[in-house]
Amino acid sequence: MLYLIGNWKMAPEKNIQVIDLVKKTNEIAKLYKKSITTIVCPPAVFLPIVKKNIKVPLGIGSQGVAASDAVAQTGLISASMIKESGAQYVIIGHSEMRARGDSNANVKDQLTRLFEKKLTPIVCIGEKTRDEQGWYLSEVKDQLETVYGDLAPLQAKKIILAYEPVWAIGAQADRAATPAECREMTIFIRKFLSDKYGEKIAKAMPILYGGSADEFNAKSFLEEGTADGFLIGRVSLDPKRLGALAKTINK
Ligand code: 13P
Repeated sequence: MLYLIGNWKMAPEKNIQVIDLVKKTNEIAKLYKKSITTIVCPPAVFLPIVKKNIKVPLGIGSQGVAASDAVAQTGLISASMIKESGAQYVIIGHSEMRARGDSNANVKDQLTRLFEKKLTPIVCIGEKTRDEQGWYLSEVKDQLETVYGDLAPLQAKKIILAYEPVWAIGAQADRAATPAECREMTIFIRKFLSDKYGEKIAKAMPILYGGSADEFNAKSFLEEGTADGFLIGRVSLDPKRLGALAKTINK
């Protein structure tokens, strides 16, 4: 089963646009449900309206969670609130959140909150820049060690991991990663996971790619890049392109 997860980030702006986008995404999720698990992660304020308009099999997730349950945290939302909204998934560790202050330790605490509430974590990891010597691998290794450090296989298996090289994300990115760059990293991550949990478990853990993924490069990320699906930003807001992306990866 492949994953297609839409991170809507801070869009769209209006209720009517949200309803339209959910309805169109419902159709795509239904069409490809045999081979693709489709999930949307709207801004938190739209979780209830998305929940109201969503149809099985489309899944719904939040874009973040507070690292602790303390009430005095202006602007944040707790794992209980997310659960109450009907969402099943939560993105944590996204580079745009890390850029605003989330450390590896924060991400780990957020992960713990999600397990407490039986929410499925979508954990983003990825290096800020690349260098010729391969030092970027140690940045990713640190992220992996914090996330999986003390996790039992039963919990580790629940994580949907997304490799998102920071330099490849968003409209200002120079380019997407190449499938070869993605492949190198999925091998590195799988090796880490298989050293820790054994080959059988590691093989079953989904590793998605994110960062300027689209309907044109998606197939080679799956085939050559060995990704198990995608965490997408911009394309998730455009149902035509999302449909085209789902169609290519379904083949
Ligand atoms: P883009 O697909 O817009 O590059 O965003 C990727 C991303 O950050 C998904 O979480």
